[in-house]
Amino acid sequence: MSKLKAISFLFLFNILTVSAKNEEYIGYKVYNVKFNNIEQEDNFYKIKNEFIDYWRKPSLKYNTVGQAMVPPAQTNWFEEGLTELGVAKDIYIDDVYKYLSTREEASSDILRSGDNNTFTFNDYYRYSQILDYIRALEATYENSTGINLSVIEAGTTAEGRPLVYIKLTNLTPTVNKPIIIIEAGINPRQWITIPSSLNIINKLLESNDTRFLNNFEWVIIPILNPDGYEYTHTNLRLWTKSRSTRSNLGAICPGVNINRNFNIDWLNSDTSSSPCSHIYGGTGAFSEVESRVIQSLHDEYGRRIRAYISLQNNGGFISYPWQYERAASGLFAQHHILGMKMIETMEDNYELDIASVAYGDRASGTSTDYMRNGGVLFTFNIDVVPRGQDGVIVPREEIQTIADDVWRAVSVVAVNL
Ligand SMILES: *[C@@H]1O[C@H](CO)[C@@H](O)[C@H](O)[C@H]1NC(C)=O
Ligand SMILES: *[C@@H]1O[C@H](CO)[C@@H](O)[C@H](O)[C@H]1NC(C)=O
Ligand SMILES: *[C@@H]1O[C@H](CO)[C@@H](O)[C@H](O)[C@H]1NC(C)=O
Ligand SMILES: *[C@@H]1O[C@H](CO)[C@@H](O)[C@H](O)[C@H]1NC(C)=O
Repeated sequence: MSKLKAISFLFLFNILTVSAKNEEYIGYKVYNVKFNNIEQEDNFYKIKNEFIDYWRKPSLKYNTVGQAMVPPAQTNWFEEGLTELGVAKDIYIDDVYKYLSTREEASSDILRSGDNNTFTFNDYYRYSQILDYIRALEATYENSTGINLSVIEAGTTAEGRPLVYIKLTNLTPTVNKPIIIIEAGINPRQWITIPSSLNIINKLLESNDTRFLNNFEWVIIPILNPDGYEYTHTNLRLWTKSRSTRSNLGAICPGVNINRNFNIDWLNSDTSSSPCSHIYGGTGAFSEVESRVIQSLHDEYGRRIRAYISLQNNGGFISYPWQYERAASGLFAQHHILGMKMIETMEDNYELDIASVAYGDRASGTSTDYMRNGGVLFTFNIDVVPRGQDGVIVPREEIQTIADDVWRAVSVVAVNL
């Protein structure tokens, strides 16, 4: 199918939006993709396009089975491409809509505890519930003589939601402590990153190890992309972008992929200039308020930021820059040594590598590359779900184990900086 036809297909697809949740995924398939040799990996770009949504990129080095979600209009073309490369066809999900309807998360999105005062770290919540929780936390500590916890509103999304982060430290006399930033929910369908970030706040407050709050100020962004996150609850569980409509095609194809909107190698690799694409990079670097919040943190705190950790969910990697090219940043050895310690403490199956190698592909305009390029010494992506597990939709029962793994990795960073 020609590119033109593919684009008009997407237009139609958006105009004829049907009301029932996730119905737009009827007929979408997910393929398992695995390379057997380097030629297949090298030639793979021929069957990549902006309509194919990777739940996980295939990688020869890690023997990683990739998962590619393909729209109905692209399946023939994709299958032919796989055949040409000699990659075996293996359908993982035959109909994504049906798959989503059978998953608990697809239908149930209300506060389950039944008690508004109980917020647990092993459940998924709506954005307003999370805001209520962190504001209640702020009120709890408002007169504390030990803890300083504030909720900072740093911007407003296209749909009018506040963009917030939590600043947390203790009131030991030091001023201008080094800062550790934790970012979650940049890709809104990766729900598991959000309880993982809230669990970190809880661990910091409960820990008896004074080093965490004595030595650092923590900035935790529990949901960087709340408009997208709410849309994954109300409409499309697998949405990857924000909901802004500033581009010329905004009304038809809203949203920008926030993790392609930073000003490092912007719009070059694994990204698109088409507003209808799930990897749309925006009208320009920092066109979006969500990425500008990160930029303003960088501009405000500069070299005080000692580590920046982005929580994501591509399946079992701890990775470090660069993601935009197949090379390490200047502090390769330091990242690798610290990364090894993180892996050791997570009691599950994770791999450590340069991000572009770990994901089997380069990607432009990411938050961690931006921070590293801007002088932050340590930047990591933690892809929180262990290798080999079904990555995108994570059942509630698995949240606590994963969130605790993430906390151990983050605590190792703090102790070793
Ligand atoms: C929780 O809060 C909601 C909205 O404020 C209210 O309707 C509901 O009755 C509350 N539930 C409990 C158990 O207090
Ligand atoms: C903090 O102090 C103010 C003024 O004394 C008081 O009104 C408020 O209730 C206190 N907050 C808490 C959580 O104790
Ligand atoms: C607590 O943190 C906030 C936000 O960083 C800051 O404005 C405030 O001065 C701090 N309070 C104290 C008592 O240090
Ligand atoms: C911290 O110490 C208190 C009192 O000794 C104990 O009850 C609590 O379990 C400890 N917390 C952690 C996270 O170890």
